[in-house]
Amino acid sequence: MRPARSNANRRRSTLGGGLSYSGGMPLLAATTVRPARRVCGRVQPPGDKSISHRYALLAALADGPSTFGRFAPGADCASTLRCLAALGVQVTDARAQDGTRTVCVVGRGRGGFRSPAGPLDAGNSGTTMRLLAGLLAAHPLIVTLTGDESLRRRPMRRVIEPLTLMGARIESHDGRAPLTIHGGALRAIDYAPAVPSAQVKTAVLLAGLLAEGRTSVTEPAPTRDHTERALPAFGVAIEQAGHTVALQGGQRLHPAALDVPGDLSSAAFWMVAAAALPGSDVEIEDVGLNPSRTAFLPVLERFGARVDHQIQRTAGREPVGWVRVRGDRLRPVTIAPDEVPALIDELPALAALAACGGGLEVHGAAELRVKESDRIAALTAGLRALGAETVEYPDGFQVRGGALRGGTADAAGDHRLAMAFAVAALAASGPSVIAGADAVAVSYPGFFETLDRLRGESR
Ligand code: S3P
Repeated sequence: MRPARSNANRRRSTLGGGLSYSGGMPLLAATTVRPARRVCGRVQPPGDKSISHRYALLAALADGPSTFGRFAPGADCASTLRCLAALGVQVTDARAQDGTRTVCVVGRGRGGFRSPAGPLDAGNSGTTMRLLAGLLAAHPLIVTLTGDESLRRRPMRRVIEPLTLMGARIESHDGRAPLTIHGGALRAIDYAPAVPSAQVKTAVLLAGLLAEGRTSVTEPAPTRDHTERALPAFGVAIEQAGHTVALQGGQRLHPAALDVPGDLSSAAFWMVAAAALPGSDVEIEDVGLNPSRTAFLPVLERFGARVDHQIQRTAGREPVGWVRVRGDRLRPVTIAPDEVPALIDELPALAALAACGGGLEVHGAAELRVKESDRIAALTAGLRALGAETVEYPDGFQVRGGALRGGTADAAGDHRLAMAFAVAALAASGPSVIAGADAVAVSYPGFFETLDRLRGESR
């Protein structure tokens, strides 16, 4: 593969036989990223992906139309909307001149899904598949849920098990998609998942909402609590105590009008770019600052970055504010296993930062191997290709900070790896090619335009 000519050049190129796929779309583009001296400016990140999925799914159960401002623009949330539309839910999607998006979902009420014409395609989105499995389990329908090559490799037993205990019958391919869900009347359960997973917690709670009795989930470690904040916004009463959340089945949902906060996990890449390049100064505006998502900020400080942030308001029940990051000398960081669940989506960005200087050691993160790619193998391989020294462990990795020279890094069809490699490439001494860079469309379609805007002069 020949490198493209400039950072602005995103071209279609054929990567030999090894195509990767996202949301059913072939990923064929390679992008060249040139080094930058620093990054400066303000960014409004796209709407939060996790929150957008939840709002759309809850709205589908409500009686009447809900509207969501700044709904996440990526392919993952589009998969959720497409699946809902296939189940008979009316969805409209309006874009204002400034590019902000308002999505309207006309709920069909509890248990109102219609039988779809064929299998539902969740694309690259694990959240779509696992959360929708919870809802479908409670509908008297037989529905097949499938996804792209990456999603069909990911573990689904973690939702099959509790939904089966509740009374659904789910056929799978050895615990993987396609899943065929034979849904119907469910009974409530008290469930304690083995892995900390907001997706599992949410799938069980969504099924519990349509089940008979009181359903509870007790987590082994806290995970993002967007579901717990979203349910009351649709009129659902929940109980919370310690690591347990519970709700009574049979509650009706009312429609809601909500604004989605900016996605901190998407903004993490700009914060890392600022931290990696001394003299940088980046401010993230209108970003979600839910405490179950902000563990990343003190880790940036441990790396040596200057981080300021402030909550300014709430949107729905989600705190929203700004974060400012200024780069300084980088220091080595170790992330302990008990920190991992709250940082799981930010580990690729933190590994990229570590490669620019400082270094990073992570253990207790075997879950990374079953994300959109094997994020331990593909992350260390990509950073090595850019010149970093890395060690791969079964449950983590080590990245030694040093002089990156640039090279060709393969995103392995994974949006967060494409963005991590692009940010690491800014601190390299020479240009880099990110193969499969258009995987960014899964969560951040405008990523490379923002990268071009924030970069100072090239060095
Ligand atoms: C998500 C939960 C996390 C996260 C994923 C989105 C969600 O996954 O990694 O990107 O929206 O609930 P798990 O719940 O599997 O840990």
